[in-house]
Amino acid sequence: MTSDMLLFTPGPTTIPERVITAMSQCASVHHRTSEFEKIFATCQESFANLFALPEPPLFLASSGTGGLEAALRNICEPGETVAFVNGGKFGERWGKIAAALGFSPLELSCEWGESISKEELTNTLRNAETPIRAICFQHLETSTGVLHPVEEFSEIVRQESPETFILIDAISSFACSPLDVRCADIVIAGSQKALMLPPGLCFLMLSERAWQRAEECDSGSFYFNLLAERKAQKRSNSAWTPPISLILGLHEVLKMLAEEGMPEVFHRQDQNAKVCRAGLVELGFTTLSDDYPAAGVTPARPPKNVDASKLPALLVDSCGKRIAGAQDQWKGKVVRIGHMGSITPQDVQELLKDLSCAIV
Ligand SMILES: Cc1ncc(COP(=O)(O)O)c(C=O)c1O
Repeated sequence: MTSDMLLFTPGPTTIPERVITAMSQCASVHHRTSEFEKIFATCQESFANLFALPEPPLFLASSGTGGLEAALRNICEPGETVAFVNGGKFGERWGKIAAALGFSPLELSCEWGESISKEELTNTLRNAETPIRAICFQHLETSTGVLHPVEEFSEIVRQESPETFILIDAISSFACSPLDVRCADIVIAGSQKALMLPPGLCFLMLSERAWQRAEECDSGSFYFNLLAERKAQKRSNSAWTPPISLILGLHEVLKMLAEEGMPEVFHRQDQNAKVCRAGLVELGFTTLSDDYPAAGVTPARPPKNVDASKLPALLVDSCGKRIAGAQDQWKGKVVRIGHMGSITPQDVQELLKDLSCAIV
């Protein structure tokens, strides 16, 4: 808890004071030094330990979208089929990236607030006219607050189409909702969500099979060539200039998560979501995506007398706290309350109190 907490948004999230202090040391750090390599190595090791990874993740200087593009580029080649679930803005983004890279996108769409059924997934895999090179999911579809059951999806894909690579965008769920990375070939996480950092760093976790595929796949990219990055990171440095301040911040974040313990972190995030949902209902809101509730964000329609499009600004003016609006078909009708990262159930209670004052 910080007394000046402002961001109840599903990313960027509030950055804890001690992380800001750690990042501010960057003025005196050069990346091609043993001092920096030691910090980098500690980050690699503790990240892998905390999230039970078979090997350290790749740290990539990029926003999350760059991580999604890098993942696709190192697995697929132009003309190959890339299936993706589109149930919101970020599912849609998988399709847009695939199209931009010259792949052949195959969409499985679902209503906002819903996920796909196991039957739909099975049928798509069984009836595909061409081999599906990769299938892309969101763990948390941030635009709708749906936590897709990706581990169940993964079992189906492995059974029905074992050659297909499974890519999971866990940008907004990582360190908030548990995920066994072994259910995927590539998992992508982002810095500005539950990892409590500013934007600009993403994390790629590849299976051995994905690394083998990357060896034979032409990524068509210089910067997003993950093999080059892996080679440098095996020496605990990066191929290109790393975001030094973010690595220093990550070092502190990982210490914080280890001090609290990941089971406790996941429990706190779950509590945040439960307190938020129950409190919103008491205030007359209608919560959405109720069949797939996420620990990190709660979407809700305000009571009739409240203008959803004005509520985020109203709240900033009245108490300095920021919640998020929504996009596309939910724009102006729905608000999204983020409660990932450093937020506690008490913080959510306080927000709800402020919200109750703001809507009278
Ligand atoms: C699930 C998900 N995927 C992808 C992105 C895109 O990440 P970025 O904005 O860091 O490029 C976001 C950002 O909000 C997200 O929530």
